[in-house]
Amino acid sequence: QVDESKEVESIVPSYACQRRTTLENHNTVFTDALSLLAESAELSDEDGRGVAFRRAAAVLKALHSPVTDLLQLRGLPCLGGHSLRVIKDVLENGASSEVECTKQSERFKALKVLTGIFGVGSKTAERWIREGIHSLPQLQDSAHTLNRAQQAGLEHYDDLNQPVTKAEGDAIGEIVAKAVMSVLPGVQITLIGGFRRGKLTGHDVDFLITHPEEGREVGLMPKVVSWLESKGFLLYQKTTRNSYLESKDGPARPSSNMDRFERCFSIFKLPEDAKQGTTQTETLTEDTPEDTCRLTTPSLVKDEGSESTKRANLKPWRAVRVDLVVSPISQFAFALLGWTGSKLFERELRRWAGHEKAMSLSSHALYDNTQSKYLRASSEEEIFAHLGLEYIPPSERNA
Ligand code: CTP
Ligand code: MN
Ligand code: MN
Ligand code: MN
Repeated sequence: QVDESKEVESIVPSYACQRRTTLENHNTVFTDALSLLAESAELSDEDGRGVAFRRAAAVLKALHSPVTDLLQLRGLPCLGGHSLRVIKDVLENGASSEVECTKQSERFKALKVLTGIFGVGSKTAERWIREGIHSLPQLQDSAHTLNRAQQAGLEHYDDLNQPVTKAEGDAIGEIVAKAVMSVLPGVQITLIGGFRRGKLTGHDVDFLITHPEEGREVGLMPKVVSWLESKGFLLYQKTTRNSYLESKDGPARPSSNMDRFERCFSIFKLPEDAKQGTTQTETLTEDTPEDTCRLTTPSLVKDEGSESTKRANLKPWRAVRVDLVVSPISQFAFALLGWTGSKLFERELRRWAGHEKAMSLSSHALYDNTQSKYLRASSEEEIFAHLGLEYIPPSERNA
């Protein structure tokens, strides 16, 4: 048995972008544990540790059978001493004491609750926790003035912490399609992010918008936003204009995750009937599995109680986070690749490009440092080919 698994081990390459990672995970007990430690590290701004745990989890996600013995892990990449200790603990005791300890810690619980507010990052949460704020009621009772994003995040806290289903994503897609078509005919809209990778739920819905004629997409977002606002579909939006052309430090910054496309971070008001009216009729009974990160937090309703909570849930719409990105057609393939994820897969692509190929990959372009030139591409397949990688379809980028 050990010999058989050793063969499997030897074919696991070390970069996640060299591997096929489907949503079928035979090792959730280990990957859940490692992901929680990654999350805890990220919430404490220990990104290096976070990435190490994410990489370890991703290696286990790529295995085709459950790990039952530490010996099976010999020769696997990205498994450091800390990750191996966690796996060993789970194998021997059914759970990792470090994970259980983290989950129960007041600090972690408070960080989760506070960063669960749209617009609140780990640094802000950290500052509030130092002031003794650990919960939403405590935040509301504090004298803190929240910015516009945080106010919206607090107001729609329960909705935004409930996973978005594919059916809801499709319903939003129809609304966005209607909006872009009515302001600029011929526009192309593509579902990106987790749903493009085949996920059944997500924390938001992501769309990439482009036009087959270069330049026609300029200034599109404010028009789309106006249309959506006039129809009452937006609870919040922040539009950032394209800053790619005016930037001085070149398009491909391998160290940065941020791109400079015209974009809109928004909260949609999705009518319940719009959801039922979609062609994709998915049964909504099987969604929100236990392992999705649905937070159990006190209701924000002032006169907190089951009656008012029930009433609040009966509202005929729900708030959904939506990201819109506009790309010129010449950069579309790079934007598509960069916004499909997963986040680790993207990070690994950029690391592969830089470390193995002396290239700089961003969501705008691919630059070859050896040839000192940009490499054009009009499809994701071409970008993988430029990078010397086997093409991995979106459904297998779930690292
Ligand atoms: N992304 C990005 N720049 C940002 C935010 C996100 O390039 N400022 C990219 C991420 O790298 C990811 C994709 O956009 O590849 C989608 O991000 P996100 O919606 O956060 O993650 P999903 O994979 O869609 O997960 P979920 O289903 O939870 O939304
Ligand atoms: Mn499998
Ligand atoms: Mn997403
Ligand atoms: Mn997103």
